[in-house]
Amino acid sequence: MQRGNNESVSLWQNTSKKELSFQQLRDNLEADVCIVGAGIAGLTTGYLLAREGRSVVIVDAWEMGAGETGRTTAHLTAVLDDRFFNIESLFGEKGARLAAESHMSAINHIEAIVNKENINCDFERVDGYLVPLDDKQREDFDKEVAPVKQAGFSDMEIIGKLPISGLKINLAMRFTQQAVFHITNYMNGLTEAFLRLGGQIYTNSQIIEVKGGDNAYAKTNKGYKVTAKHVVVATNTPINDWVKMHTKQAAYRTYVIGYQIPKDTYPGFLLWDMADPYHYVRIVRGNSHDTLIVGGEDHKTGQAYDMDLRYQKLDNWAKNYFTTLGPITYRWSGQVMEPVDCLAFIGRNPMDADNVYIATGDSGNGMTHGTIAGILITDLIMGRNNQWQNLYDPARKSVKAVTTFIKENANFVGHMVKDWVKPSEVDSVDAISRGEGAILRKGVSKIAVYRDEEGQLHERSAVCTHLGCVVQWNRGEKSWDCPCHGSRFDCDGRILNGPAIKPLAEVKAETSHEEAA
Ligand code: FES
Repeated sequence: MQRGNNESVSLWQNTSKKELSFQQLRDNLEADVCIVGAGIAGLTTGYLLAREGRSVVIVDAWEMGAGETGRTTAHLTAVLDDRFFNIESLFGEKGARLAAESHMSAINHIEAIVNKENINCDFERVDGYLVPLDDKQREDFDKEVAPVKQAGFSDMEIIGKLPISGLKINLAMRFTQQAVFHITNYMNGLTEAFLRLGGQIYTNSQIIEVKGGDNAYAKTNKGYKVTAKHVVVATNTPINDWVKMHTKQAAYRTYVIGYQIPKDTYPGFLLWDMADPYHYVRIVRGNSHDTLIVGGEDHKTGQAYDMDLRYQKLDNWAKNYFTTLGPITYRWSGQVMEPVDCLAFIGRNPMDADNVYIATGDSGNGMTHGTIAGILITDLIMGRNNQWQNLYDPARKSVKAVTTFIKENANFVGHMVKDWVKPSEVDSVDAISRGEGAILRKGVSKIAVYRDEEGQLHERSAVCTHLGCVVQWNRGEKSWDCPCHGSRFDCDGRILNGPAIKPLAEVKAETSHEEAA
């Protein structure tokens, strides 16, 4: 269920009750709706539309759940980490309230689907705790109290002692009715329900072109088309828009470790501190043991090289606050799309005809934002009004977030310039150890060189096929990551994450490593 042999394995990928597999798209098809991307946003949209009697075809470049949905920590919460005092300043009191309501509604929808379709995915309602761990966090904590009440969390209470023995944290805001689940088991159940409703899924079929209007379609790199009345692009970051949406969000990597702990050491809960980037914690129930999952230590994709240190910092953080921690059994990382103004972009694609939709900008709440996308896009396609439509409109103007917009786009321009003039990272390929990669330079060319565990070199152009930035080696996931908009490629240059739709180019003979230095 991973995208490649070198990727780390998430707990969900390792403990999934079954692995569903599907055919490649090898024919031209017609449907009411074609959905690109079989993550939680695409599948929820497909399932809800199939329930409305629409014929739906879902196409994914990988297997089900192999993308970022399978790399989540599956927190189901309306307690948004961007803080309600920020959301209120950007969208007003009404907008903040609608945002909270939409995420609570997403949790309720997931629970309803679990019950209706009898999905065995360990869905559990739990309390969530927002905790300040130093003076700066305490300032934000105090600032957040009134806005969360205004956003609709009327039963939020401030407590001076968490009811979790073995946790060395006292002060918290407690939020009831949050939830957790096992994402891949949920996705499997949802997939089976979608198929029962007549939906079709094709995997390992990469869509490289989307066209709206009359005779709208999505076309694979092998030339097969799904022609549809509506096309939904739910690919984490849109692959059908080259520039505009990518100036409104930025890609970050987040890190996760899992500790094997004795069963029932801790009750079910969600916990988030208020650091920037923040840490997040939950429990996953198992038959013989539980797993405590701790995440955080985020950085912009392609802009850090210290993955081992980040896992170490997570471990140090957990040891500071939890008295019982067993061996670390999981280490994985995932990609988060951070919108400049905190909320996802869900709705009609501003760069296309009215019958093309996008769902992107998960903002670290991918499970609920993905479910909101399913509800909202289904309403749009069915011609119904939805009260969240303006809030999540991809065309919205983020005027109040202009500082973040400028900062993120200046960061892109900076990398576009400075990474091109940098010298080689190593003197020659001889300095690249097994299992490692480095960027070498030859004249004006940049080459991404990876040495596999057998000592063989794998060389590709280091030029990202999206807008031409220079990719960087990710030693944690053994991938080439673009610092500009988050495209990622495996060791042989194949695409892992968009917006790029083409692999890294082959290296021409005259720029091979023998001459590069
Ligand atoms: Fe945009 Fe690489 S992702 S240039």
